[in-house]
Amino acid sequence: MEHVLLGSDHAGFGLKELIKQKLNSQGYQVIDVGCFSEESCDYPLFAIDLCKRIQKGDARNGILVCGTGIGMSMAANRMKGIRAALCANEYQARMSRAHNDSNVLCLGSRVIGQDLAFSILDVWLNTEFEGGRHKRRVDLIESI
Ligand code: RB5
Repeated sequence: MEHVLLGSDHAGFGLKELIKQKLNSQGYQVIDVGCFSEESCDYPLFAIDLCKRIQKGDARNGILVCGTGIGMSMAANRMKGIRAALCANEYQARMSRAHNDSNVLCLGSRVIGQDLAFSILDVWLNTEFEGGRHKRRVDLIESI
């Protein structure tokens, strides 16, 4: 079964745990890079760890959760080969895959509720990159 990487800071911990349960029940092999409690911690450390594992090929996709999703996406997008998409609705999730070939989904646990997060996640995991003209644009991003 497909491996999926999962990480959060303290603000995202609760939603991360719910996402882990959901993905496990759907048969995904979840690799949880932490954090492992609600004790205050630094989100870039988890973004860096998760993205390095994508770079190594441990999994194709990763999910990062913090309070807003913003810090995680900023950190993740500094990493070569990472295309992190901060999504607050299903349309962004679908397009971030179809057009931008995102490989990291960032969620803000203080911005969206559990049901919307799950719905965004389902759309994101089940949408494929369309390639074609979008490949040229993604390649331009990768050339930066
Ligand atoms: C933690 O308080 C908060 O700053 C963090 O979870 C995230 O929202 C940063 O972007």
